[in-house]
Amino acid sequence: MPTLVDTEKNGLNSKPPYNCGMNEHSHPTCADTTDAIRIIEQADLKQLNTFGLPCVADRLYPIHSVEGLQAALKQCANAPFTVLGGGSNVLLPEKLGNVLHMDIMGRALAGETDDAWLVRVGAGEEWHSLVRWTLEKGLPGLENLSLIPGSVGAAPVQNIGAYGVELADRLHSVEAWDQHTQQHVTLMRDDCTFAYRDSIFKQQPGRYIITHVVLQLAKTWHAQLRYRDVADDLTTQGITTPTALNISNAVIRIRTRKLPDWREIGNVGSFFKNPVVDAEHFASLAAQHPNMPHYPQADGSIKLAAGWLIEQSGWKGQSRGQVGCYDKQALVLVNLGNASRDDVLGLANAIVSDVQQKFRVQLEREPVLIN
Ligand code: EPU
Repeated sequence: MPTLVDTEKNGLNSKPPYNCGMNEHSHPTCADTTDAIRIIEQADLKQLNTFGLPCVADRLYPIHSVEGLQAALKQCANAPFTVLGGGSNVLLPEKLGNVLHMDIMGRALAGETDDAWLVRVGAGEEWHSLVRWTLEKGLPGLENLSLIPGSVGAAPVQNIGAYGVELADRLHSVEAWDQHTQQHVTLMRDDCTFAYRDSIFKQQPGRYIITHVVLQLAKTWHAQLRYRDVADDLTTQGITTPTALNISNAVIRIRTRKLPDWREIGNVGSFFKNPVVDAEHFASLAAQHPNMPHYPQADGSIKLAAGWLIEQSGWKGQSRGQVGCYDKQALVLVNLGNASRDDVLGLANAIVSDVQQKFRVQLEREPVLIN
């Protein structure tokens, strides 16, 4: 088995972008023996959420290890706290109390099963850097999930998915601190109750704090080209037998064309889930809109494309105050400059209401509202 260990810091989290200001201090009395716990007071979180919403935390705890997490939890005592990863699927309020910023790093080939390599990754690693690292090391399997923003620890929460692959298809287990049992636990994939953009971590908010993710990457690799856009891009490039790296590059090209880079235009990716309707509802919609994109599900229900519904409702490229509906992909709401959370929710509610009126379909928000 090849030995691959990489604990170097990289990407997003190598230099935490919080405004450390003048109130940063270490807390020598904590139980963390490996490194005294750092607390940053009045931390500016604008750069720690990809929508770029203004938010100040009374106390920010950067977490670099499981021991550091336990020490920070002790420090918070019984006060409420928020756990933040890459901030790519959250809408933050203007003020927060205690915030734990998960910055546990490290990527290593940790073992193998008969048919897969197991790669263990710290929750604070940047997802896309991990994807490229696995490809560089000759461990294919994550290529369809290239360029998804956010951290590794956040990936299981919403079961990130794109271009025919979901995290659940590649996940072995999740290591987490269980707030209920006060123990560090391992949840195997089947324990995580994964579904489309859903998991136990969403179903039981506040219970688990994810510290590490273990991925299983098949030793025998098969290209996943079910998604038309990917196959079309590769054909355009003249590639007939794509490698995993070819697919990763194709996904990067497609996403770059359709989705805004949050470093330039604040956003949280898809703002709504693709809604699912029953066959009867679909039949009545299809009679009126024969070109409506639709994806039949195993249980007989039909998934619709929220982006299409929003575009047909006239919102694509439109804006309200400081928030816009992206002109290349209507499913994405963007920060036009100084958006507040109320601005975001105002536009989102207007879109939900128009789609409901036109199609009798209720759109559901994807990002989590933190309070
Ligand atoms: N469409 C429109 N107008 C739009 C956007 C989309 O008509 O403004 C139509 C497209 O023409 C297509 C259909 O809607 O027929 C689906 O569009 P697309 O292929 O862009 O995918 P999506 O359903 O809009 C989902 C995920 C994306 C993921 C892509 C590719 C959700 C909520 N979104 O988008 O995930 O990258 O499929 O697999 O499931 C994310 O979660 O942040 C995200 C970007």
